[in-house]
Amino acid sequence: MKKVFGWVVCGAFVMGMFSIAYAQFAKPDDAIAYRQSVMTLIGQHFGRIAAVVKGEKPYQQQEVAKNAELVSTLSKLPWDAFAAAGADKGKTHMKPEVLQNKEAFKSAAAAMEKEAAKLAQVAAGGSLDDVKTQFGAVGKSCKACHDKWRTQ
Ligand code: HEC
Repeated sequence: MKKVFGWVVCGAFVMGMFSIAYAQFAKPDDAIAYRQSVMTLIGQHFGRIAAVVKGEKPYQQQEVAKNAELVSTLSKLPWDAFAAAGADKGKTHMKPEVLQNKEAFKSAAAAMEKEAAKLAQVAAGGSLDDVKTQFGAVGKSCKACHDKWRTQ
């Protein structure tokens, strides 16, 4: 009985740790650093595909597929950090309106996640033409959100 109780307490503790890790940050600056870091990584890996799409780099299917997979994975990460209380102040380019329009912001985020997942799928298939088309769709979803929710 004691042992079972121990496991329950342990399980509750672990679950508590997870919800802290995912739902909140120790301070607003941590949320800002987190989302800017993820966006920087997304920018890097998306940029590597951009170079291929623009013809500046040769097309290597596996490289493009790897970068598309990373963009798709990373696209799942930053959104909670945009909704963190107090994280509209500080060294950030996020418009404070995001916090009053969390649902609209989330749907812009979901649109990008969806397009990025599709890019990963298309890139695994290997056709450069398909990659180019879907790259454009992802790029549009980045721009739509930046135009609306980011200061320059
Ligand atoms: C749902 C909204 C949204 C989407 C979608 C989005 N971004 Fe962002 N992005 C932002 C906001 C808001 C900031 C400003 C973050 C800050 O300063 O706190 C930002 C910042 C950035 C930055 C600058 C990071 C830094 O160091 O400050 C880069 C690079 C970037 N985004 C790239 C991209 C790319 C590439 C895509 C698409 C593949 C994308 N973003 C999609 C909202 C979005």
